[in-house]
Amino acid sequence: MAVAASERGASVLAVDFAPAMVERAEERLQQFHRSTAKVMDFIALDIADGSQDVAISNFGILAYPSWQGALKEMVRVIRPGGAIALTMWTNRDDCSPAHLLHRVFRQLFPNKDLWPPGLFPIFSPTALEKGLLRAGCVDVRVRTAQADWSPFSSNDVGRECDPMFRGFPGYAGLSDSNRSDLLASLKMAFEEYAGSGGVIRLPTKAFVVFASKPT
Ligand SMILES: C[S@@+](CC[C@H](N)C(=O)[O-])C[C@H]1O[C@@H](n2cnc3c(N)ncnc32)[C@H](O)[C@@H]1O
Repeated sequence: MAVAASERGASVLAVDFAPAMVERAEERLQQFHRSTAKVMDFIALDIADGSQDVAISNFGILAYPSWQGALKEMVRVIRPGGAIALTMWTNRDDCSPAHLLHRVFRQLFPNKDLWPPGLFPIFSPTALEKGLLRAGCVDVRVRTAQADWSPFSSNDVGRECDPMFRGFPGYAGLSDSNRSDLLASLKMAFEEYAGSGGVIRLPTKAFVVFASKPT
């Protein structure tokens, strides 16, 4: 997102509290002299009030139970009339690779949690609109977008996604044999979305939310 905005001429400050994410963003932003990346907690941004035109959180704040505090911070740092944009998976079964993993995990291990309760709060468009209005935003619009996630064949997806899936405590805590059972079932689940040549086309679905700060 930071690169796309920089390519369009924006001067971007990209933030994340994971140093590895910031390092990678810094590398990718190096070619844009007016953009940079910094380690920051989205609950307490080290950014002056009203200093930004736009605040965007791409699959960021809405993934966490602290999203309301983080949204307040986004509103604080933009100027009157500034814009907010947020994206987040819709949380329906199979709306993202992680949610497909979640469905298969639940079937195999009904007594375990893949991710802690509270991660990926469940939203409806109405709940999102209310949340943004409560944070003082106006002109709130919530859309649902769909796009194919299609990077791998179903043969490769388990191996390729393993580092990402290890971020989920339920997956990281499995024994080797449970993990290999899960990956075999996951491969079958992904195969339902594989076209000719075995390449997956998972129609992922996300909320895209726009709003403004009153002038
Ligand atoms: C699904 S990733 C999205 C990353 C990035 N926005 C993107 O589009 O690729 C969610 C990110 O939120 C970051 N995160 C979680 N809690 C945070 C916090 N309190 N402050 C800042 N970043 C946080 C994580 O480190 C992770 O990189």
